[in-house]
Amino acid sequence: MFVSYVLIKMRKTIIAGNWKMYKTITEAIELANGVKRELFQMDSQNIEVVLCPPFTALAEVYEVIADSDIQLGAQDVYWQEEGAFTGEISCKMLKDAGCKFIIIGHSERRQFFGEINAFVNKKLKAALNSEITPIVCVGETLSEREGNRTFEVLGNQIKEGLDGITEEDVLKIVIAYEPVWAIGTGRTAKPIQAQETQKYIRNLLKELYNNDVAEAIRIQYGGSVKLENILELIQQPDVDGALVGGASLSIESFAGLVKIACGVKK
Ligand code: 13P
Repeated sequence: MFVSYVLIKMRKTIIAGNWKMYKTITEAIELANGVKRELFQMDSQNIEVVLCPPFTALAEVYEVIADSDIQLGAQDVYWQEEGAFTGEISCKMLKDAGCKFIIIGHSERRQFFGEINAFVNKKLKAALNSEITPIVCVGETLSEREGNRTFEVLGNQIKEGLDGITEEDVLKIVIAYEPVWAIGTGRTAKPIQAQETQKYIRNLLKELYNNDVAEAIRIQYGGSVKLENILELIQQPDVDGALVGGASLSIESFAGLVKIACGVKK
């Protein structure tokens, strides 16, 4: 009883902004500066905030946030440490640029760049080896949901993505449930849908590992999160934060989301 209470309390809310392929270096510096200014009094005991700019702006954004509690994340990585892999970036390079997090397996990577679960698994292991926290994205498409295949699809993404990851390592990851039909569409999952699906993910982690591990892993929700819906979403017991796309691109909305999330006590 005591153990699981401690583990539940360890699930600090995490709000990450995925800037996708937006923002020049100048714009990125401006956005990061604005977010830092707005979140100056953020209680970092209560919340973790991550900015994931495009690769070109990582170093500059890091400089802006280095003296704050805001952390830096990348949007993708390649699993090799170095070598002749034109166009790719390694964990070592991301770490060097100040990254503490990497988004892995985002649905846009899966959809447009042929990312399969086996690649997600290799990237995940590379990030863990480099002591960078992976944010592993999973989610079903609209036709999969309508065909009642949501749990089957998520089950495969999680089982294959986490294949061979030890109990000790799995505790270091964050999972982001991002239903593909809710990304960039303005169509958010209903809080009850997010809760039901994230509960399924937690139960699966319990089966794959054990109850304490499942209770300790943070699961974010992503997909059209905005000021109007974040409160109800993160009040759900199995929603431990948000991975935000569009609404992370302006200072007011992203800082506003963090402030709302910061006030939620579970
Ligand atoms: P939107 O918030 O724009 O729907 O994007 C969600 C997302 O893909 C975050 O990774």
